[in-house]
Amino acid sequence: MVPKATGAAEITSELAVQRCIEPTCAAVYAIGERIYVCPQCGGSLEIHCHLPVSADPSLLRQRWATRAVSKDPVDASGVWRYREVLPFEEPVPVVTLFEGNTPIYRAPRSAEYCGVTDLRLKHQGCNPTGSFKDTGMSAAVTQAVVLGASTIICASTGNTAASLAAYAARAGLQAAILVPHGQITAAKLAQSMDYGALVCEIDGNFDDCMRLAQELGADPSIYLANSINPFRIEGQKTVAYELMEQCNWQVPDHIVVPGGNLGNSTALAKGFQELLDIGLIKRAPKMNVVQAEGAAPLARLFASLTANQIAGAAPLPDSLANVENPQTLATAIKIGAPVSWKKCLRAVLRSGGKVLSVTEQEIADAKAIIGRDGIGCEPASATTVAGIKKLAVAGHIRDDESVIAILTGHVLKDPDYVSHYHRGTLSFASVKNASPQRIAGTFANPPRKVAATKAAILATLERRR
Ligand code: F0G
Repeated sequence: MVPKATGAAEITSELAVQRCIEPTCAAVYAIGERIYVCPQCGGSLEIHCHLPVSADPSLLRQRWATRAVSKDPVDASGVWRYREVLPFEEPVPVVTLFEGNTPIYRAPRSAEYCGVTDLRLKHQGCNPTGSFKDTGMSAAVTQAVVLGASTIICASTGNTAASLAAYAARAGLQAAILVPHGQITAAKLAQSMDYGALVCEIDGNFDDCMRLAQELGADPSIYLANSINPFRIEGQKTVAYELMEQCNWQVPDHIVVPGGNLGNSTALAKGFQELLDIGLIKRAPKMNVVQAEGAAPLARLFASLTANQIAGAAPLPDSLANVENPQTLATAIKIGAPVSWKKCLRAVLRSGGKVLSVTEQEIADAKAIIGRDGIGCEPASATTVAGIKKLAVAGHIRDDESVIAILTGHVLKDPDYVSHYHRGTLSFASVKNASPQRIAGTFANPPRKVAATKAAILATLERRR
């Protein structure tokens, strides 16, 4: 249970509402209502928390810093430590696996590769199930418990599934996951099986799974845990708070995130907006979102915007042209109909950021460079470094600007991809029977067959020097 917050940041019982993001509707609902889209107009929902605004926001900083070294599991969670900004009424049946608290690394080789001087990588793959999903899942599964749900469902390209499976297991709830058959990595599937979820391999792609999950979420017995659920966003927004603490409250110029279903970019932007509203920062970073070329519906839309639309002087498009048959080896972001595109686009434009796409080759090479920094990540995460390189060349990121890329998944989430790249055999065909497009192993580092003698190993070392 969360202890009651005290002092300047005390929150009243009307601590938050759910609100439709469509300006012409803007309907408001209680946080206890089990809805995922606006029942009146079908628009996306966003949670509005009554933020702990006080004359001295540094008190909050101090409180959060104190909790970070606490032994209490709720304080120690990188989500619940910031409970003043979360939409939960006490007592809260917190479901936690000590999520968050992920490292930020300086990445000199990646910086040089991108042509920037100040690049840091925040590794959300260091979460309990190996991806950024855990911060949001801690909040969503806690809300499922609050609502008395017994079954939680999600559609997934693998990471949401693994995360939901783990958190549902912690809470003693049934997890049902819908994954596209043959299109998610063995490691992610293995996690979901191990955590005891009901794994449904669907004959279709992620977008088909998402449609089904939304239909099933309408059933009163089933709670939907995809990022269309605004409680997921609430958990994930805390990454902005943690990141600012780690940066000693010095705001970076750019944040760069991969884009799939577009919940994470939305969540981070929301976090930064709240930090502004509370008065903990004076400006927000530019939010840049990078998609894989074969699954880039928002990047396409962004490229078609007029200068007036970008400046907010003309209305934004009301619909997104989906990619019918998305293709990328970065399977985590193989998504053609992202559910949170509107929220994400609005946030990117407000921040002055961009949405762009990168090729399979650019993703694969960037991933290998992140590895050379001793960090590593799964393919989808590497869209960030590939995107930063492109944005630096285009002059959107200047050499003197600071950049933080969000790495979303652990390198061991997709060992087949890594191995194929370094052996020079990475192609669409190597992963599944599709187009035979071959990815060059530009920075390949294959294993060598070496005789079982000291001399042979020394000679091999010498050749590599
Ligand atoms: N990176 C990784 C490793 C992911 O697993 C995902 C999404 C993203 C980036 C994109 O984040 O959807 O918030 O824009 N994975 C989801 C899943 C779709 O089911 O695991 P997003």
